[in-house]
Amino acid sequence: MDAKCNSGLPVPSGVQAPRVRCARWPTFVASVAFLALLHLLVSPSIRPIYRSPALLPLGSSSSLCPQENPLAPEKNGELWNDLTALHATNDFLMRAVSQLSAAVQIPTESFDEMGPVGEDERWLTRGPFVDHLATAFPLVHTSLELQKVNTYGLIYIWEGSDASLKPLLHMSHYDVVPVAPLSADQWTHPAYSGYFDGKNIWGRGSWDDKAGIISKLVTIEVLLEKKFVPTRTVVLSFGFDEETGGAQGAGHLAPALLERFGPDSFAMIVDEGGGFLEQFGGIFAFPSVGEKGSADVNIKVQTLGGHSSVPPEHTSIGMLAALIMVQCLAAHAPDMPGLLKRAILRARTNPVALKAVEAILLKDPTIRALVGTTQAVDVVSGGVKSNALPEQALAVVNHRIATKSSVNATLTRDAELTRDLAARFNLSVTAFGELLTPAGAASFGSLSLRAMDTLEPAPISPWDAPAYRLLAGTIRTAFHATRKDEEKEIFVAPGIMTGNTDTRFYWDLSQHIFRYDHSNMVDEGIGAAHTVDEHIRAAAFIEMITFFTTLILNADEAAL
Ligand SMILES: *[C@@H]1O[C@H](CO)[C@@H](O)[C@H](O)[C@H]1NC(C)=O
Ligand SMILES: *[C@@H]1O[C@H](CO)[C@@H](O)[C@H](O)[C@H]1NC(C)=O
Ligand SMILES: [Zn+2]
Repeated sequence: MDAKCNSGLPVPSGVQAPRVRCARWPTFVASVAFLALLHLLVSPSIRPIYRSPALLPLGSSSSLCPQENPLAPEKNGELWNDLTALHATNDFLMRAVSQLSAAVQIPTESFDEMGPVGEDERWLTRGPFVDHLATAFPLVHTSLELQKVNTYGLIYIWEGSDASLKPLLHMSHYDVVPVAPLSADQWTHPAYSGYFDGKNIWGRGSWDDKAGIISKLVTIEVLLEKKFVPTRTVVLSFGFDEETGGAQGAGHLAPALLERFGPDSFAMIVDEGGGFLEQFGGIFAFPSVGEKGSADVNIKVQTLGGHSSVPPEHTSIGMLAALIMVQCLAAHAPDMPGLLKRAILRARTNPVALKAVEAILLKDPTIRALVGTTQAVDVVSGGVKSNALPEQALAVVNHRIATKSSVNATLTRDAELTRDLAARFNLSVTAFGELLTPAGAASFGSLSLRAMDTLEPAPISPWDAPAYRLLAGTIRTAFHATRKDEEKEIFVAPGIMTGNTDTRFYWDLSQHIFRYDHSNMVDEGIGAAHTVDEHIRAAAFIEMITFFTTLILNADEAAL
């Protein structure tokens, strides 16, 4: 997952991994107006305006949270049984662990503002990693076609016997966020040791996302060892700069795939993202069917003054996903507080109860972050002379845009709020290239808004389609495959990511894009992506392999 600031908001459980928080408060004493601006921008008291979700299936179904039946391969049932038995052995665990450990030991750090591949020598760390894959996965490299894109982007094509079937596309990225030099000695085991203590594999990338890329490659290497011949083509696409936005990797890989396979050519795309976790005593998996958008707005105040504020836009599909999530919790989580549970259950048929539930949901900052547009001040600079007001101050506000909203709506709202507030300080306002205040009206200075980095919210992948149903059934089967004797049940509901993965470049390739890698977040299966002591439990890593194995075999024999 990318390293962008996550507004410092708590992370909706199960929806995405914890992220770095980089909103920085101004430490300098600036003009009153500028501080007012910042206050308005980050004020948590901005209340979301929430409209009733027209799409909520009120009372339309007798089941609150319908679940797909677990789906296991039939045609390849015997192979699948062999493989899950193999995954349960200690030999296999040690083999998989050593593969992941070796991958972690090759640092592939991504830095902000890297120059193009071929110019910036910090990309050179990718070379040894790519070479390593060729020796670590010999069958993959003799049986699959490998296309390198922009030097380090990797597309592997495993040709299926039936060319009329849309291929399955698996994505991952093999870059990692840098280990901050000052925190290097805080790691329990050195960050690039890939140390295995008998239970956990430690190191930068051990989870995000070398667990993803290595679990996929181990899956296919083993399928090749078993002489499996796919019917449906399987494509792997591995980026190398996802942590800094993916422009050099995914930004070149997606067009290359588009050229080769055409638009809407994949049955399903699966990338890193959601996993499964425990909530109120039940276990839930949240494959992300959408991602929020984002907009970085550069705000410059010349001389005194300024302000703006922001847009909590809302709902419908994003809110609907959140409501389905809580409905699933109410239906299947044994320990959910009775009051909340009853309110959610009543909300299906009773509009008053529905309003109450909405109010409860929106009080929860994680739900708000999920469904609303959020904002955080990422960068602040300005004059620091103690005896003079700054003549110029700068801020970058990062918005995470609700799935229902848009870049335009967010920027328009910024501009409107800025204009109203700037009037109080007699500032002229130029928003996104347009002068909003009458010429000559301003006596105190100017305020300008410039959009830098914008991304629309991702299209929502349907969850009433065969691809989602295949994924949901696969999740349940993979979960049970590693817990044969346990009574535990897993429930699957669509989720939304507040951040972005490399899939942001892949929208044209499929309508069925899911961010889900079966990360086990129950019992500390994984932890600390992007921070000190990133690690993954070996058993959790094996579960990912079982999941990808099941997914490939299921997709191979399903009508998609
Ligand atoms: C938003 O869209 C409207 C209508 O297309 C356009 O006039 C306006 O300039 C856009 N605003 C921004 C900030 O892009
Ligand atoms: C802004 O300008 C108007 C007229 O130009 C003036 O009356 C008003 O006092 C000014 N406000 C401030 C805050 O300087
Ligand atoms: Zn990642």
